[in-house]
Amino acid sequence: MSAPPRPAPAIVPRPHRLTPLSGRFTFDTGTALRVAPGAEHAAVLLRELLAPATGLPLPTHPDGRVVLALDPALTGLGTEGYGLTAGPDAVLLRAARLEGLLRGIQTLRQLLPPEALSDTPVRGTTWSVPCVQITDVPRFSWRGAMLDVARHFQPVAFLRRYVDLLALHKLNVLHLHLTDDQGWRMPVAAYPRLTEIGGLPHGGAYTRTELAGLVAHAAARGVAVVPEIEMPGHVRAALAAYPHLGNDPGRRLGVWRQWGVCDTVLGVHDEVLDFCRTVLDEVMDTFPGSHVHIGGEECPTAEWERSPAALRRAADEGLDGPKALHGWFMQRIGAHLTAAGRTPLGWTETGEDLPAGFTVLPWRDAAHGLTAARRGHDVIMAPYRSTYLDYPQSDDPGEPPGQPGGIVDLRTVHGTEPAPADWEPEAAARVLGTQAQLWTEYVPTPAHAEYLSFPRLCALAETAWSGRRDWPGFQERLHHHRVRLDTLGVPRRPPTIASGEDSS
Ligand code: ACM
Repeated sequence: MSAPPRPAPAIVPRPHRLTPLSGRFTFDTGTALRVAPGAEHAAVLLRELLAPATGLPLPTHPDGRVVLALDPALTGLGTEGYGLTAGPDAVLLRAARLEGLLRGIQTLRQLLPPEALSDTPVRGTTWSVPCVQITDVPRFSWRGAMLDVARHFQPVAFLRRYVDLLALHKLNVLHLHLTDDQGWRMPVAAYPRLTEIGGLPHGGAYTRTELAGLVAHAAARGVAVVPEIEMPGHVRAALAAYPHLGNDPGRRLGVWRQWGVCDTVLGVHDEVLDFCRTVLDEVMDTFPGSHVHIGGEECPTAEWERSPAALRRAADEGLDGPKALHGWFMQRIGAHLTAAGRTPLGWTETGEDLPAGFTVLPWRDAAHGLTAARRGHDVIMAPYRSTYLDYPQSDDPGEPPGQPGGIVDLRTVHGTEPAPADWEPEAAARVLGTQAQLWTEYVPTPAHAEYLSFPRLCALAETAWSGRRDWPGFQERLHHHRVRLDTLGVPRRPPTIASGEDSS
């Protein structure tokens, strides 16, 4: 009689190749790490992640049985791939780059009993992993989550925790939507009123030290923090602070206290361009990553159509009317980022509304991604029907109030293909990946944000990392994975909700 097949451990997202082996490797207080030069940060992270629950010291020792090996000559693993072999006597984690080791550490965490994820000491558990051979590489390099901290401010401690949750799922981008009509959360030394005035409703603003600390915390986990400063629309909070940046300098407006698309937008005079460049210089100082998002969507042009200054600007620039000021504006500010060595990101609403050189996020219709890719843009897929987590996750009447007009359920997120097979290969190759969006009009608290994020981010991670569709297999693994999320305190049930809608 042959032995029954060994069950595969329930790793989320699913590894590229996983072979269960017989036996277990057991960690104890004597277990040491053998750490290759360049892999020290991985050792630090492994200790930091395992210490709270296990108390394991995991000292570095040349004969350590847990090996963190770094070999730039390893082929086929790319930047983030890793190989993990757990045998009864040793664990070998190898990668060509540090990022790969950081991903492998998250797999090792998931191989341990779920209690290993507890943030308080756990007694009486044997810290062992099943023997296994894994070779794992991501399908897409951009696997992200956007969090709107403008509509409702979310404290930095929560952002750090959110980064930890992303990293557990091998998601590698936290996109922070820092400014909008309803709030401005990013301090800018040259324009203190942005946060003094713009930080008032719905909650607060970050300090630069907090943001720098968040960036470092994320980098240690292999997560990039991508800042978004909205322009030329979604700027009412900035205009409340500095009315001269608008199209009607004599007008005094408050920070917006309702949801939707506000028709107040930035002016297009030189002072406004200087303002945007100064803000972005400070943003680039705080966020050292390769990409900076400057919004660009939902920009009504009615104010420009009646502003003499804007009409003059359109004529002086030889534009085909004031509507064309949008592309002109994005091009000007995008060029400032490009000159500083960064890649500008923007929301596209047609696939052809942003200048060359922008990496675009189609949020309305996935087909706009194809249009943009054909025009030579790199694309990060973010269509609302399958990646917007502010929509309720089911039609259960117990769901808290969310974005009206539809639901985005787990299966939809899991089933979304970022680079559809019927796109021509050159266009599909322009898809860097995908990300989820959590707009927070209806999301006043961290607990609510976590409830909406999980398990849908598990499904997005599976789509972006594994790329293989296996809905029954995903559900089976998620069943086990939810125990890990329970241990981490991610709520399964909606928190008690006071309506997130403003009354004004
Ligand atoms: C968006 O939903 N305003 C990108």
